[in-house]
Amino acid sequence: MQLDGDARFLYYAVKLPWWGASNDGWVFMNDKMRLQKFLAHAGVASRRAAEDLIVRGKVRVNGKVVRELGTSVSETDRVDVSGTPVKLQTEPQYLVMHKPVNVMTTMRDPEGRRTVAELIPKGLPRVVPVGRLDYDTSGVLLLTNDGELANILMHPRFGVEKMYRVVVKGRLLPDEIKRLQSGVWIEEFKAAGAGVRVVATRRDTSVLDITIHEGKNRQVRRMFEAVGHPVVALARLRFGPLRLGDLPPGQTRPLTARELSQLRNLAP
Ligand code: URA
Repeated sequence: MQLDGDARFLYYAVKLPWWGASNDGWVFMNDKMRLQKFLAHAGVASRRAAEDLIVRGKVRVNGKVVRELGTSVSETDRVDVSGTPVKLQTEPQYLVMHKPVNVMTTMRDPEGRRTVAELIPKGLPRVVPVGRLDYDTSGVLLLTNDGELANILMHPRFGVEKMYRVVVKGRLLPDEIKRLQSGVWIEEFKAAGAGVRVVATRRDTSVLDITIHEGKNRQVRRMFEAVGHPVVALARLRFGPLRLGDLPPGQTRPLTARELSQLRNLAP
């Protein structure tokens, strides 16, 4: 790839973690879940295809054909599809993904854009993303079928720390950095103070690392907009204890045992 000037600067600023140092989220922890979700989690089919199976009368719950999509089932219900019993895959799975830009953090996209589902290795039980990165944000993303842990990590009460490498227009004045550190208003919401570190500056652009523990929609972009420096590129280098490291864009790796216990310790 040939990159010159600004383009090369931005590319390396975002791509290389050595300069510093990381809702379609899901919920599945009640006793009951919708039948199509149950079938999807059991690996029978995608949720949409499962809906189709239900409507076509292929699914029985406790021996009775069920065609209503709103039907809920619990673990004690007997579900079968075309006569074959279906069991929930209970083995928890945890994956770290380097989400590339131009990929939706959803399992399917009605507009046909690329989704993280296409980047998950084949043959694994169904996992879903914990939280969301914008279409044009890259970086570390956790995927799991452990709904309980996912709910904890998403809950504002636990304030999981996230660190982003950001390239913005212009150079920040000390006062603008202070505003980010003490908390800026983004419309109706005052962001909590962020950790901010200037990584590099150029004539028209700056690279910074920003650490936040909230997760409002487009929060980092809106925080920099609020101080007059629109974001040019954004990558999450860290999500709690999970670091991007040298995982290439589009690739996934399993969580290490240490990472898993660190995540669990976030919510004692
Ligand atoms: N903040 C943003 O603005 N976008 C993201 O994708 C993540 C955090």
